Amino acid sequence: MKTTISVIKADIGSLAGHHVVHPDTMAAASKVLAEAKSQSLLIDYYITHVGDDLELIMTHTRGELDTKVHETAWNAFKEAAKVAKELGLYAAGQDLLSDSFSGNVRGLGPGVAEIEVEERPSEPIAIFMADKTEPGAFNLPLYKMFADPFNTPGLVIDPTMHNGFKFEVLDVYQGEAVVLNAPQELYDLLALIGTPSRYVIRRIYRSEDNLLGAVVSIERLNLIAGKYVGKDDPVTIVRLQHGLPALGEALEAFTLPHLVPGWMRGSHYGPLIPVSQRDARATRFDGPPRLIGLGFNVKNGKLVGPSDLFDDPAFDEVRRLANTITDYMRRHGPFMPHRLEPTEMEYTTLPIILEKLRSRFKKESDVYKVKESIYSKEKSGPSGD
Ligand code: 13P
Ligand code: 13P
Ligand code: MG
Ligand code: MG
Ligand code: MG
Ligand code: MG
Repeated sequence: MKTTISVIKADIGSLAGHHVVHPDTMAAASKVLAEAKSQSLLIDYYITHVGDDLELIMTHTRGELDTKVHETAWNAFKEAAKVAKELGLYAAGQDLLSDSFSGNVRGLGPGVAEIEVEERPSEPIAIFMADKTEPGAFNLPLYKMFADPFNTPGLVIDPTMHNGFKFEVLDVYQGEAVVLNAPQELYDLLALIGTPSRYVIRRIYRSEDNLLGAVVSIERLNLIAGKYVGKDDPVTIVRLQHGLPALGEALEAFTLPHLVPGWMRGSHYGPLIPVSQRDARATRFDGPPRLIGLGFNVKNGKLVGPSDLFDDPAFDEVRRLANTITDYMRRHGPFMPHRLEPTEMEYTTLPIILEKLRSRFKKESDVYKVKESIYSKEKSGPSGD
């Protein structure tokens, strides 16, 4: 039996701004998934949130991109959005970009990460979910997990991992993917994924046997909608242990609160702060960009767990550093590189401002003429002298 783990997420509206999912919307989504479970469409499910993003973690045997599973998720979001509207929550229905469902949720707004696995005798997984950032935010930690022996000693000392991993990297602008081998093509890989707004790690396979080790949700809402409608707060599913990164190696990759785009108005760089489920609320400057991690064992499709992976004093120093970086970045105010470059901003006021000022821009040569006339007036002094 093959088990599929589908994590489908969407922002359907939130309490007091882009802050936190309301429990009543989670209850509405839960009702839909419970019904699907009672009909044996789903084996199991777990609903959670990070900030204003509602996360549906589902297991079944129907494979990736299954119409019924996706329709269930879509209906859960619709029901949750209905409650969000009734409660007057902010940005109700934010990520539901279409009025009707057509086959699967790809391209309709929600983010999707799915992995079909032949369950190992023990199938440990970690699901990392972030708010106020975008899919490329996982490039750096996934690189560390699956390609950096300073993070993951298993790459050196576990014979199954020693042959490395294959990274499937998507160019989100061209809609083309390339597979690169680590460690053989490490520098080519880094040349691409170092531009995380464009080149996003989508899947990682173990080189020895092509076992799928990790998947990332890769929707870019701005590319779908043609304009920026919100950063695509991402999810990644990582399989663990026994020839894959150990749980602790996966978590070690998040000990650097690296700078990611998103945060306030989807237009600023800030540190990705790993927090417990309890602290998965966007607060300061609508952030800082937040990450939660849940650990499960999957057994016959059942989700055993979760364990709240960052609910741990061992991550206090990471959070302290993230807060220091937050202070430092914030002091740049509206200046880059705290603010994103214009093409990556969620707001597109710049063309309007440029249009307004159009007639007041002078050619450089004209500017000199203006300067010269001021200068010659100054030299001749006030008239009458
Ligand atoms: P065990 O010896 O408990 O199997 O742990 C191995 C491991 O992966 C530790 O990181
Ligand atoms: P979300 O993408 O999480 O909805 O955040 C939008 C925003 O503008 C936060 O300031
Ligand atoms: Mg929102
Ligand atoms: Mg969000
Ligand atoms: Mg969003
Ligand atoms: Mg967002």
